[in-house]
Amino acid sequence: MLAGKKIIIGITGSIAAFKIPILVRLLIKEGAEVQVILTENARDFVTPLTLSTLSKRPALTFPFDKKDGTWNSHVDMGLWADLMLVAPASAATLSKMASGMADNLLVTTYLSAKCPVFFAPAMDLDMFKHPATIENIAKLVRRGDRLIEPQTGELASGLSGAGRMEEPENIVAMLKSYYETGKSLKGKNFLISAGPTYEAIDPVRFIGNYSSGLMGFALADEAALRGANVTLIAGPTHLTVSHRAIQRFDVVSASEMYDAVMENFGLADVTIMSAAIADFTPENVATEKIKKSQGLEYIKLKPTIDILASLGKQKSQNQLLVGFALETENEFENAGQKLDTKNLDLIVLNSLKDSGAGFGVSTNKITILDKNRNLLHFDLKSKKEVAADILDKITELL
Ligand code: CTP
Repeated sequence: MLAGKKIIIGITGSIAAFKIPILVRLLIKEGAEVQVILTENARDFVTPLTLSTLSKRPALTFPFDKKDGTWNSHVDMGLWADLMLVAPASAATLSKMASGMADNLLVTTYLSAKCPVFFAPAMDLDMFKHPATIENIAKLVRRGDRLIEPQTGELASGLSGAGRMEEPENIVAMLKSYYETGKSLKGKNFLISAGPTYEAIDPVRFIGNYSSGLMGFALADEAALRGANVTLIAGPTHLTVSHRAIQRFDVVSASEMYDAVMENFGLADVTIMSAAIADFTPENVATEKIKKSQGLEYIKLKPTIDILASLGKQKSQNQLLVGFALETENEFENAGQKLDTKNLDLIVLNSLKDSGAGFGVSTNKITILDKNRNLLHFDLKSKKEVAADILDKITELL
């Protein structure tokens, strides 16, 4: 998949730079052509000689070679590359990329590049959590650059948390899967719902659930990466999408989710309802804040519309409908029943009995059930990988 691909690796001043010679070696072994650009600070962590030797090309830092006056043209390199990977991406370089501060060869090349850009942040956890870094990453992602999420673990500072650069082997696997799956869903329209819904009690209180939206957002990102046009209907969540091809609509309540999904269903080839939609909503919403002194013995609830069941009734033969089932007991029977009664093509089952699965965690363990009662069991994986498994199965059906 990577043979013959022209890849620029931009290395910045972070201790994780020590992993990049291995990354370069792995890419060269895959048959890629690699041009390394390293910032001046990166040279304190890894030597140009090592990188030049492994990449079989001079590793560059300066726009001009002062010895022979050669110009290392960022414009030419930007046109040459099929892909640019900034790894490790330090907080400073992320900020320069986000603001267009082109004061070194790496950032000028980034601004000239016409190809997809991946970036793998690496820094201490407090720097990674800082609103400035979060905003810079969100800005890059909104523009279509692809974030390679840092891992959580022990950091060079001795602290433990998010900020550790993804391992070179996994970065190579991601780049391969980008090329492998890049076109498989081209032209398909996906409608995906994600996150929880909030049902208002009064202007300041609601009934909600613990859904983070991670699974639905991972599905939206992965489908877009595979070439689909994605409409994402998101309940309340702080998550951001990583891809330009995703059109996002934010909703709050089950009834707003219903309206948004219905409005977009007609054009959808595939609809995946991964949102955790409230089954009940308060019958009356107080217009003013309910005062403690008023007392509140109970909140009377009425059922919400089952969106998935409504879609099941409407769907045409060439539309695929995929539901989720979150169960705590009799998982397979309950999921099978939902598949039949809601007229689904597939149902993705999460069991809360499995640790690491379900709401609020970055991993999931699923079983996919089809109309013929075939069960496809998967191991505990990151939600990103789970999204890829679900889309592989959908692609098979398409
Ligand atoms: N769902 C929906 N509309 C609702 C409630 C749920 O479209 N008002 C969808 C969810 O997005 C999910 C599927 O239905 O894809 C199953 O949700 P789940 O809560 O597991 O099942 P329910 O059908 O609500 O049944 P129960 O809560 O009794 O298990």
